[in-house]
Amino acid sequence: MTPNHYNFNQTTPQIEERVDALLAKMTLEEKVGQMMQIHIHEGNRAEMEERIRQGQVGSILSLYGVKDTNHAQRIAVEESRLGIPLIFGNDVIHGYRTIFPIPLAESCTWEPALLQEAARIAAEEASANGVDWNFAPMVDVCREPRWGRIAEGAGEDVYLGSVMAQARVRGFQAKGLTSGRKIAACPKHYAAYGGAEAGKDYNTVDISERTLRDLYLPPFEAAFDEGAGTTMSAFNDLNGIPSTGNAFILRQILREEWGFLGVVLSDWNAVGELVPHGFAADLKEAAKRAALAGVDMDMISDAYHAHLAELVREGAVPAPIINEAVRRILRLKIQLGLFENPYTDEALASESILKPEYRAKALEIAQKSMVLLKNEGGLLPLDEGQRIALIGPLADDHHHILGAWHRIGEDADTESVLDGMRAVFPLANVAHMEGIPLERGDAPHFREAVEAAQSADVAVLVVGEGEFMSGEAHSRAHLGLPGQQQALVEAVHATGTPVVVVLMSGRPLVIPWIAEHIPSVLQAWHGGIRAGGAVARILGGRVNPSGKLTATWPRAEGQIPIYYNHKSTGRPPTGDGTLQFDMIHLSDYMDEYISPQFPFGFGLSYTRFAYADLEVVTPTLGVDAALVVEAAITNTGERAGEEIVQLYVRDLAGEVTRPVKELKGFQKISLDPGESQTVRFEVPARELGFHGLDMSYKVEPGDFKVWVGPNAAEGLEGEFAIERG
Ligand code: GLC
Repeated sequence: MTPNHYNFNQTTPQIEERVDALLAKMTLEEKVGQMMQIHIHEGNRAEMEERIRQGQVGSILSLYGVKDTNHAQRIAVEESRLGIPLIFGNDVIHGYRTIFPIPLAESCTWEPALLQEAARIAAEEASANGVDWNFAPMVDVCREPRWGRIAEGAGEDVYLGSVMAQARVRGFQAKGLTSGRKIAACPKHYAAYGGAEAGKDYNTVDISERTLRDLYLPPFEAAFDEGAGTTMSAFNDLNGIPSTGNAFILRQILREEWGFLGVVLSDWNAVGELVPHGFAADLKEAAKRAALAGVDMDMISDAYHAHLAELVREGAVPAPIINEAVRRILRLKIQLGLFENPYTDEALASESILKPEYRAKALEIAQKSMVLLKNEGGLLPLDEGQRIALIGPLADDHHHILGAWHRIGEDADTESVLDGMRAVFPLANVAHMEGIPLERGDAPHFREAVEAAQSADVAVLVVGEGEFMSGEAHSRAHLGLPGQQQALVEAVHATGTPVVVVLMSGRPLVIPWIAEHIPSVLQAWHGGIRAGGAVARILGGRVNPSGKLTATWPRAEGQIPIYYNHKSTGRPPTGDGTLQFDMIHLSDYMDEYISPQFPFGFGLSYTRFAYADLEVVTPTLGVDAALVVEAAITNTGERAGEEIVQLYVRDLAGEVTRPVKELKGFQKISLDPGESQTVRFEVPARELGFHGLDMSYKVEPGDFKVWVGPNAAEGLEGEFAIERG
C-alpha cells in the first residue's frame, strides 16, 4: 500500500544533483548561513532581515502569521545572492489552532489512527499558516511524573511510544494538505531527555548504554523508519557528554547504525549551553564541538554564525562536515518543494482553522483520552434528574484545558466543563460554584461551595493543575492538588453528599486520599478545546469512557521512579502490595506499598469485561517465527463499551536481566453487552529481543511468560519458549 505520507528520510539521484549544483555555487559564509536558525522579534528585526539578505540564515522559528513568513521569504528568495528559500519551524505539539488533548492524554486512547488524524489536522492548519517544519512529535519515553514535559509524550512504555511516534509522523508528514504544501516532522529530543535525574528539567541523564538503546532510542528509530526528516538534539548531559555535543548518538548511532539522512537541529541555544555544561570553554569551542559531533543547524545560539567559518579556515572543523550538513538542509528544502513553492497563499490561513470536522475530532479524542480511575457503587454515570453542585477552580475554566503547549490556541475556542454540563443536564439541575482559586490565595467562597454541595444530590469537583504547572521548565516535587483544592475536596466529602472528582493535569498526580475516599474519579488531563463537552458527556453517560493510562500513577512521590516494566531484583517483593512489617528482607518499603496507585494500562468502563480461554497457539517458536496468542474477551455488563486488550511478555532468564513485563501488543475492541470476541496477537519473535552483553540487538532462545489482560497488573498467564536456530 502506497504510504499516504512523505518519507523525508530518503533521497534520489536527482535531488542530490540539485544539491551538488547549489553547493558548488555557495561561499563558505553562505553554507554556514544555511546552518543557522534564528528567532525574529521587535528588537532584532532589522538586523535579522539584513542577515537573511546576506544569505546568512537558513531557517526561522516561531514566526507567526503568513504575512510575516512571506515577507521574510521574499527577502531570502528575491534579495539574497542565491535565493535559497528559508524553512519555517514551529512547535505544533498538540494542535495549531484546533487544540487537542495534550499528547500524554492522546496516548491514553491507545488508538494510533486517532493520533495520526490529530497530527494531520495540525499539519493542515499549520501548513496553511506558514509552517514547513514542525518540532514534533516529542518521543521522549518518561518514567518521571515530576518532570513537567511528561505531558508532551506518550508515557513510560517504549513499545507504545514507538507506535505513537510513527502515527504522529504519518500525520504531520501527510500528503494532500489543502495548502498544497508539506510539513517535515521532528521527533525530539534526541536523546534520553526524559531520563532527567529527579525529574528536574534540563537535568543530568546518566544511564547505561543498554537502557539508552532498549528504552530511549527505539521511538526515534521507529520515527525515522516512518520517514521523519529531521530531529532535534537535546539539552541534557548524557553520560557526561551533552546530547548536542555527543558524536556517539549523533554520528555513530544516528548516521552509521541507522543511516539517518535527515537534518539535526539543536534545541533552543543548546549549542551555546555547551559552555555552562562545562563542555566548551567559550562559544567558539561550543560551535566546534557541536559541528564535529553532528549538529547540522544551530537554533538561535549564534555560535555557528559567529565562529563556524573561522573554525573551517583554521582547519579546526573540516570543510566536508559543513558540506554534509548543508547537503541535508538543502535536501530537505528541495523535498519540501520550497524552491518551487516558497510562499504560502495568504488567502488560505484564516479559512484553514477550527473547521467543524476538526472540532468534532477534538471532542472524540478528548472523550477517548479520559480515564475512569474509580467508580465505586456505580455513582457514574449521573442521572439527568439529579441536582448537581459543580464546584472547583477548573469547573468553568476556558484556559488551562488548552494544556502546556497550546501556543496560539485561544480560550474563546474552548468549552468548559460548565458549558458541557449545561448542554447535557437540565439547566436548573446544575449549580456552579468555583469555591477557591487554582493556587493558594483568598478563598471567600469556600463555605458557599461546601453549602452548595450539602443541598445537592451529587457534587462534581473539577480540580487539578493549571496548564503552566506542567510542560517545559515546570517540574514539581509534590504531585498532589495545588493550593486549597485538597481541603475543598475533603470538606465537600464531609457533607455526606456523594462526590465525583474530575482531575485535570499534565501528569500523573499523587492522590492517595481521593483514591481512598472518593467513589468516582475521572482523569480528564488538559483535554483541549472540547474538554468540557467530553467530561459532561462521560459524566452523563452519553459516552462510555475507554481511556487507559500510559504512565504509572504513584501512591507517593517517594516511590518515584515507579513503572511497570521494572527489573525483578534478587529479592523480588511478594507483589501483593503488603507493607513490610515482617522484615523479610525484600526489595520493599517499610512505610508504603510497592504497588502503584493505578498501574500502567489501567482504566475502567461503565461496563465490565471478562478475560477467558487464553491459548498460546505457538508454545514453541523459532527466532524467525511469530508468537501467536489468543484470548476471549466478553462484555459482561449492561452497556456497550470499548476495551483495550494488552499483551505482555517476560523473558525469564537472559544473558542480562530482563524486565518483569514488557508490552508487546494491544488491540482496542468494541463489544455490546453479552458479546464475546476472540482477540489474536501475532508478535514476531524478533520484537522480543534486547541489547545483550556485546550491546548488539539479539533474540535469545529461552522460556517466556505471556499475559493477555486489561492492564499491566493483571491478566491471563501462559508460557512459551523460543527455540535455538
Ligand atoms: C524549547 C523546547 C523544544 C522546542 C524549542 C523551540 O526549549 O525544548 O521542545 O521545540 O525550544 O521552541
